[in-house]
Amino acid sequence: MCGIVGYVGYRDCSDVLVSALTKLEYRGYDSAGIAVFENDKIAVAKSKGKLQDLKDKMEIEGKLQGFAGIGHTRWATHGEPSDINSHPHSGKRVTLVHNGIIENYTELKDFLISKKREFLSDTDTEVVAHLLDYYYNKVQDPITAIIDTMQELKGSFALGIVFADYPNVVYAVRRESPLIVGIGKDENFIASDVPAIIKYTKDYYLLEHDEIAVLSKNGVEVFDIHNQPVQKELKTADWDVDAVGKCGYPHYMIKEINEQPNAIKNTVSPRIKDGLPCLEECNITTDSLKDIKQIYVVACGSAMHAGVVGQYVIEELARTPVTVDIASEFKYRNPLVGEGDLVIIISQSGETADSLAALRLAKNRGAKTLAIVNAMGSTIAREADMLIYTHAGPEISVASTKAYMVQLSVMYLFAFELALAKGRIDEEKCRYYTAKLLETSDMVKNVIDASTEISQKISSKLITADSLLYIGRGLDYALSMEGSLKLKEISYIHSESYAAGELKHGTISLITKDMPVIAVATQSDLYEKTVSNIKEVKARGAKVIMICQEGNDVPKDIANYVLQVPKFEELLLPMLVCVPLQLIAYYTAVQRGNDVDQPRNLAKSVTVE
Ligand code: M6R
Repeated sequence: MCGIVGYVGYRDCSDVLVSALTKLEYRGYDSAGIAVFENDKIAVAKSKGKLQDLKDKMEIEGKLQGFAGIGHTRWATHGEPSDINSHPHSGKRVTLVHNGIIENYTELKDFLISKKREFLSDTDTEVVAHLLDYYYNKVQDPITAIIDTMQELKGSFALGIVFADYPNVVYAVRRESPLIVGIGKDENFIASDVPAIIKYTKDYYLLEHDEIAVLSKNGVEVFDIHNQPVQKELKTADWDVDAVGKCGYPHYMIKEINEQPNAIKNTVSPRIKDGLPCLEECNITTDSLKDIKQIYVVACGSAMHAGVVGQYVIEELARTPVTVDIASEFKYRNPLVGEGDLVIIISQSGETADSLAALRLAKNRGAKTLAIVNAMGSTIAREADMLIYTHAGPEISVASTKAYMVQLSVMYLFAFELALAKGRIDEEKCRYYTAKLLETSDMVKNVIDASTEISQKISSKLITADSLLYIGRGLDYALSMEGSLKLKEISYIHSESYAAGELKHGTISLITKDMPVIAVATQSDLYEKTVSNIKEVKARGAKVIMICQEGNDVPKDIANYVLQVPKFEELLLPMLVCVPLQLIAYYTAVQRGNDVDQPRNLAKSVTVE
C-alpha cells in the first residue's frame, strides 16, 4: 500500500526522497509525488505512474531543490490513479502525504465545504490537509493543530506533514498505519518501512499509535496526543544494505527464492535445544501448550496457505483440532472463539489490516494469541500474547516465497513441540522430526539447483495458457493452493487449486486440451488415488505436469512433464515441493514479460480492509 518518506538534513532532498521511495516500491503503487522546501516555500511535484514518470516530469519542469521535504507512493483507494489524486495534497499552508484510510472523510469534507474550502481531488487525504490547515488557522501552533485534527479523524493514518510557516521542519504522526523515524547525524528521516532509510542510517524510532514526531536537521522530538514529550527507545536494524538490494539477481523474487536455505536455518536453528524444539524465548512452554483444546489459524493469502499446511501437521501429530480461517472472513462470521482456545496469526508484514483485526477480536474474546511474524516491531508482533519471529530478512517482492517458507518451518516446529507436550509423540520421534526440519535447509538448496532448468522448460509451455488447474490431496492439496496463488498473482494466468478427489463433482468439466493441470502427488498413502485423478484429466486431453518423489512408480504417458523432488520425510515434503511451484510461477511471469516483483494492482502490505 502507500509508502511515506520524509527528509531533513544536508543532502539533496529530491534525491533522498526519490531514492527512499524506490525502496518502498515493493509495497505497490500507481503514482508518486514529493514536496520540498525551496527557499522556504513548499514546491510540489507529482505524477501518475511509476517513480520514473515523476523523475521524467522533474527533468522537464525542473527538479525540486532543497534540504527538507516529504514524499509518497500512492496505491489508489479514493479516486483513480491520476496526477491530481497523487500525494502530496495541500490545504493552504499545510502540505501532507498519507497512508491509510479516513473513514469519516465525507462528513469532514461537507463541514469544510461549509467553511468555503475548495477541493481539487477525490481523495480523503486532501480533506485531512484542509482540516489541519483549518485548525492551524485557529491555534497557530503545528502540534496543537495536529492533535485537534487527530481527534476528528476516524480510521487509520500515517502522515508526513510540512507547514509553510515552519521551513525545514517535518512533522509525522501515526494511528494504525506504520511509520518509523530514522535517526542520522545532522539528518533525520521518516519512512513507512526500514528499507527506505537503510542506505542512510540503521537507527530508528518506532512511532507508536497516536504519537507525533517533529524532525529538524539537528534533532527529533516525539509527543503523545496530550502534547507531552515521549522518550523513545532507539532501535537498530540488523540487516545491511545488501538485504534490500538485488545483489545481481534480475528480480527480488528469484533472489528471495535463493535466500530460502539461509532463512530456514536462521529461523529454525536458534529454536532447537538438545535436539528438541524450544520456544521458551517466545513465551511458549510445554506447560502452556498442554491444555490447548482448539486452535484457530487466521491469516491472508500465502500466510493463510502456510496455515493450511500447519493444520494438517498439527492434527496429524498433536491430534488437536485446527480451523484455518481467512482473516477477512473470520472477523465477520462471529467465530466461536474464546477462553482456552489458541489463535495463531501468521503475517509476513505484521501489519495486514484483516489479520490485525482478527487478532484483536480473538484477544477480546479471551483466547490466547500467538503471532508468527517476519517484520520486527510490527503491530501484530507487538499486540499478540506470544510471538515467534521468522528470520527471513526483508521480503521485497510482492509474491511471498521465503516468508512463506519460514512460516512453514515455524508451523512444523510448533507442531512438534505441541505433539510432545501433549504426549502424542515421544522425545525420540520429536528429535527425529526436528533433525529432519534442520535438514530441509540443505535440501531446499538442492531442489532449487535441480529444478531450475525443468521449471523454465515447463513455464515455456504454460505462457500461452488462459487457465490452469492445480490438484493434489492432503498436504499436496495444501501446497497446490500456494502454487496456484503464486502463478496467478505474477503471471496473470487464471488458475485454481482443487482437491483432486473433488474434481469429478463438477470441475472436471473444465478440462480440455487447453487447460494444463499441475498435479502434486508426493504423499505415498495418497499416491495411487492422485494417479487415478491424473489419468482422468489426461484422458480428457489435459497437458499434465506431475510433481512427485524420486523413485515413484510413474505410469507411462501419464504426464507431459514429471518433476521429481528427492525422497525425504513426507510430512516435511511441502518445504521442498513449494520450490518448483515458486520457480514455475517465476519463470512463467518472466517469460510473459511481466513486472515480477510488483505485479499489477497488488500491494505488499495490505494495511486497509
Ligand atoms: O504480510 P502478510 O503475510 O500478512 O500478507 C498476507 C498476504 O497479503 C500475502 O501473503 C500475499 O498473499 C502474498 N503477497 C502472496 O504472494
